[in-house]
Amino acid sequence: MIKKCLFPAAGYGTRFLPATKAMPKEMLPVVNKPLIQYGVEEALDAGLNQIAIVTGRGKRALEDHFDISYELEHQIRNTDKERYLVGIRRLIDECSFSYTRQVEMKGLGHAILSARPLIGDEPFAVVLADDLCLNPEGDSVLAQMVKLYNQFRCSIVATMEVPSDEISKYGVVAGEPIRDDIWRVSHMVEKPKPEDAPTNMAVIGRYILTPDIFEIIEQTSPGKSGEIQITDALMQQAQQGCVLAYKFKGRRFDCGSAEGYIEATNYCYENFYLTGKAF
Ligand code: UTP
Repeated sequence: MIKKCLFPAAGYGTRFLPATKAMPKEMLPVVNKPLIQYGVEEALDAGLNQIAIVTGRGKRALEDHFDISYELEHQIRNTDKERYLVGIRRLIDECSFSYTRQVEMKGLGHAILSARPLIGDEPFAVVLADDLCLNPEGDSVLAQMVKLYNQFRCSIVATMEVPSDEISKYGVVAGEPIRDDIWRVSHMVEKPKPEDAPTNMAVIGRYILTPDIFEIIEQTSPGKSGEIQITDALMQQAQQGCVLAYKFKGRRFDCGSAEGYIEATNYCYENFYLTGKAF
């Protein structure tokens, strides 16, 4: 059973400067909720209630968000504003939160490795909270992946098709089809030029990883941009054993970019806020 979900949240968020100068990107609100809260809701929906967060300097707001604010509780007790806190109170009650700091920002692979003491020797999920994934019609993306893990017992990356002129923003996978929505990964490349991309299947910010990934990351040299890339470690894991690519059901918004963030805001406003499902 997977119980742990890791949120690497130590990045600089340079695409959202100056908003992210003193505030974590993961605390950017989509309408009334910070990105990380959507991510933790998705984890809990998938049955993962042990939340591990990799933070860095200037990220204290993340810890405060998943803690009780006694002054605030006192202030709004028995007023109609209490309803605003129902969702976050549920997460605080039902999840445990643990934190570690990535001292040097050496990439996503390195951030995942720095959480090893929080994860231990068990499979775990990884959520990049700036990828907001929503599937109001059915299982959340992480819940879909946990079901697949229970069937296949190996690492899984969530993928979606992207147009060729956007492929260089992503890790890209190629592989043998197992089902119409699952491939056994044979090749992975980080941020290829369109002409070098093996397919148009891009990896988005949802992963299930088996714990042998830690040893592999330790052996992984810095790759693209001088960072330790999870893509390179996963490629190695795919060669040694098995990694699956899963074409998820639902929508994904790239909230690390202004366009995706605005799109997500409009979507959530119409579908959750105006319909009273936002808290
Ligand atoms: P991004 O590639 O989106 O980088 O990282 P970023 O720094 O957050 O944002 P930009 O590109 O500069 O605007 C993907 C995820 O990996 C985490 C980030 O916090 C984000 O969730 N990350 C990245 C780390 O935790 N540590 C790192 O060293 C790098």
